[in-house]
Amino acid sequence: MLNHLAAAVDSDPRFSGIAHLRASTRYYDAVIDEIDGRRIRVGEHWLTDWASCNYLGFDLEPQIIDSVEGELRRWGTHPSWSRMLGNPALYPRIEERLADLLGAPDTLVLPTITQIHLSVIPILAQQGTLLVDARAHKTIWDGCVHARGLGATLKRFKTLDELASLLATDLPGPVLVCMDGVNSMTGNIPRIGRYLDLCRSHGAVLYVDDAHGFGVIGSRSEEETSPYGTGGDSIVRHFGESYDDVVLVGGFSKAYSSLLAFLAVPTVLKNRLKAAAAPYLYSGPSPTASLATVLAGFDVNAERGDKLRADLYRMSTRVLQHVRGLGVFTPNTDDTPIIELPIALDRDLVEVSELLWRRGLFVTLAPYPGVPRDQVGFRVQVTAANTDAQIDELNAVISELAAAEVFQSARETSAS
Ligand SMILES: Cc1ncc(COP(=O)(O)O)c(C=O)c1O
Repeated sequence: MLNHLAAAVDSDPRFSGIAHLRASTRYYDAVIDEIDGRRIRVGEHWLTDWASCNYLGFDLEPQIIDSVEGELRRWGTHPSWSRMLGNPALYPRIEERLADLLGAPDTLVLPTITQIHLSVIPILAQQGTLLVDARAHKTIWDGCVHARGLGATLKRFKTLDELASLLATDLPGPVLVCMDGVNSMTGNIPRIGRYLDLCRSHGAVLYVDDAHGFGVIGSRSEEETSPYGTGGDSIVRHFGESYDDVVLVGGFSKAYSSLLAFLAVPTVLKNRLKAAAAPYLYSGPSPTASLATVLAGFDVNAERGDKLRADLYRMSTRVLQHVRGLGVFTPNTDDTPIIELPIALDRDLVEVSELLWRRGLFVTLAPYPGVPRDQVGFRVQVTAANTDAQIDELNAVISELAAAEVFQSARETSAS
């Protein structure tokens, strides 16, 4: 029976693309035997890691690594109470520092964003309406589908105009508009001021997941070291918006290299969620090491974050300018470190992946349905821990693949 179920999963169109890649490429379930900065060894093969979301390089930062042992000795490896029962004093310290950094009224931290979407979206949506950006992260979608099962109405929108039309109709309230901040595949930064204006004028709430923006983009200022802005205080601040009618969700598992996630919400809502959100009430919490590295990450961010972001911007734009100079299409128009490179429509992703492996690049493959069919390809991410020599190597491989017509051309795509 279980074999039968496994076969059914394999042939389910939602999973078959990934199942095929898992069976035919070396980019799934890779066992990494050793790392050396952003070089990784898989068996005999040393590859450069372009799949890391550790944008600020905090995973390798000695000051952060050194912060762990003292907290482990103080608190043990794992505070194994649910947060409802008891919280090591590290928790309120994190929530206060985070609220301060974001300039938000208050924050609530839970282990992962996935848990937040699955538990909090249904609580907020009640029997009202969820309007979801068609390109929102799968974990947002899953939270919305769960909410639909509990009685909410769910609709998707593709453009701001579509959202405006939906909001102009008679919708059961409350209305929640759900979307990504910095998009995890295109790397683009939605102009959330426009979404917010629409939400506010229709009495809706904007629920935005800035997993990839937190730590990378922040408040614009005359002192900024790059167009990413300062402080890494995320998308709401990046556009100088207030937190009125916004639920900002973010995570530490990318730029801060720690297993923890957050919601920025007013204290009154935080207290309601403490009585209603299953991960607060019933889940095991993040391990002590992650709580320690979040706190040390705040220190490093305050001391050197803008310098790291300047490096990140400089290296990301080195790749992007190279890509654009070759006339290769990437959806990234906002110069963030997430660079998706769709392959030509007549190319096979498995063959391209084999070439990438032989050239020593560890990347994230981007199959359908994770991306639209015409954007199947792969994604590279730059981090502050990459070196200029690695960027040179990456650019050389991109040139080689462009010469072999592996990519879509920028002109073709913009004309289509
Ligand atoms: C936009 C976005 N949201 C949520 C997640 C999941 O985050 P977590 O690992 O904290 O559940 C990811 C992870 O890739 C993501 O890119």
